[in-house]
Amino acid sequence: MSQVREHWSSRLGFIMAAIGSAIGLGILWKFPYVVGQNGGGLFLFTYLFAVALIGVPLFIGEILLGRMTQSAAIGAFSHEEASGSWKVGAFLGIASSFLIMSFYSVIAGWGLSYVVMSLTGFYQGLALDQIPLIYEKLSKSGGITVMWHFLFTAICMGIVFAGVRKGIEYWSQIMVKILLVLLLILFSYSLTLKGLHQAVQFVFYPNWDKFKVSSMLEALGLAFFTLSLGQGIMISYGSYMKGKENVVKTSAIVGLSVITVAFLAALTIFPVVFSFDLSPDAGLGMVFQTLPFLFAQLPGSLVLSTIFFSLFVFTAITSAVPLIEVCATNLMEKAGLDRHKAVVLVSAGTFLFGIPSALAQTGWVFPMWEKIFGINFLETMDRLVSVWLIPLAGLITSLYVGWKVDRRELREQFMRGHQSDALWSIWYGFMRYVIPVIVFCIILQKSGILDLSMQG
Ligand code: PFF
Repeated sequence: MSQVREHWSSRLGFIMAAIGSAIGLGILWKFPYVVGQNGGGLFLFTYLFAVALIGVPLFIGEILLGRMTQSAAIGAFSHEEASGSWKVGAFLGIASSFLIMSFYSVIAGWGLSYVVMSLTGFYQGLALDQIPLIYEKLSKSGGITVMWHFLFTAICMGIVFAGVRKGIEYWSQIMVKILLVLLLILFSYSLTLKGLHQAVQFVFYPNWDKFKVSSMLEALGLAFFTLSLGQGIMISYGSYMKGKENVVKTSAIVGLSVITVAFLAALTIFPVVFSFDLSPDAGLGMVFQTLPFLFAQLPGSLVLSTIFFSLFVFTAITSAVPLIEVCATNLMEKAGLDRHKAVVLVSAGTFLFGIPSALAQTGWVFPMWEKIFGINFLETMDRLVSVWLIPLAGLITSLYVGWKVDRRELREQFMRGHQSDALWSIWYGFMRYVIPVIVFCIILQKSGILDLSMQG
């Protein structure tokens, strides 16, 4: 299909959109509870290590691949002659984008519901120990959860209809700025809490007891998830990029922003956890169950709570929009559908497929699921994507970029923006050897084929 590819109007537009995609529920909802479940400090540092040493180089690889091929994931993975089965990397990515969107909008839907509840001051007059029960009630109310899930999907669909620049770029610029300001306000409140000391200890000191070698794949998956990697999203974003930009610098800025917000989120949420004697491994509902404690104690609770959950939904939107976008773009390019049809089809699909996730805590569908698998349907989807599909897609991407893509062409792309030869060699070595070996070993370890530790 010959369509004129839209391009970012400025470098800042690209950075903002990339940060908008990266920073989302992965950091605000998932990061704190996964850090909590994996014992804090050591897991956090593994995550940071994974972002800096594996995530950012792979991020550069995806952007360069998109810019070089000027196409979305499937086209990019078919760029080289006899690409054959490499396309599986693209399909894995698209499949995980679809799956992520299906449960992401359930969580974001709860966020929407909390915005509305905050506006009505839902926890005013409640005893503190009743606050977490609100989440319990909501997550067990199937009809209500499905309604919010639908609403969130519909909002995102509307934004994608608006097109690349007008939609993603415009909203991202606004939302990312609001996000940072609000997070800083909440963070300063948390600094005054009595649980701060314990939180700092939890976040910064390694806890060997809770950390297992198998947590490494979790940390790696989380790093990829928060950077929106392994899904073809950054390939699409790279393809909207104009020729001259310095991809290395841009990627480092995105990586740094993700790390900064991750720390801010952890240091905002864990002081609350320890101040109110909550459990750091509370699981899925952690954000919804912990932060209202903070709001209920503070002056201006209604405003703060509304602002926080609006922020939560905003960031979810900027992350979810590209999820729909990547599935739709590939559908447009490969099935020849027009943009509107593709977007409606993808949104309807993720909504329908998300219904079992929305009902996961009600016991209405697959009532035996949790007994059989030990985790509910929503958690299963999340794990399937974060622990298996994304790292696998990341592995294939690094192998494709490192071994299959024409080296000269890649180097020429990398060097734009005046990179040094040394940096190129290091990065290329990472794509060819370091990333594949590390990811491969971690996957083998997780699947039980390789045992790297005594602990398991
Ligand atoms: N990076 C987003 C987050 O951390 O919430 C989630 C996400 C968006 C993951 C887009 C993957 C993706 F392709």
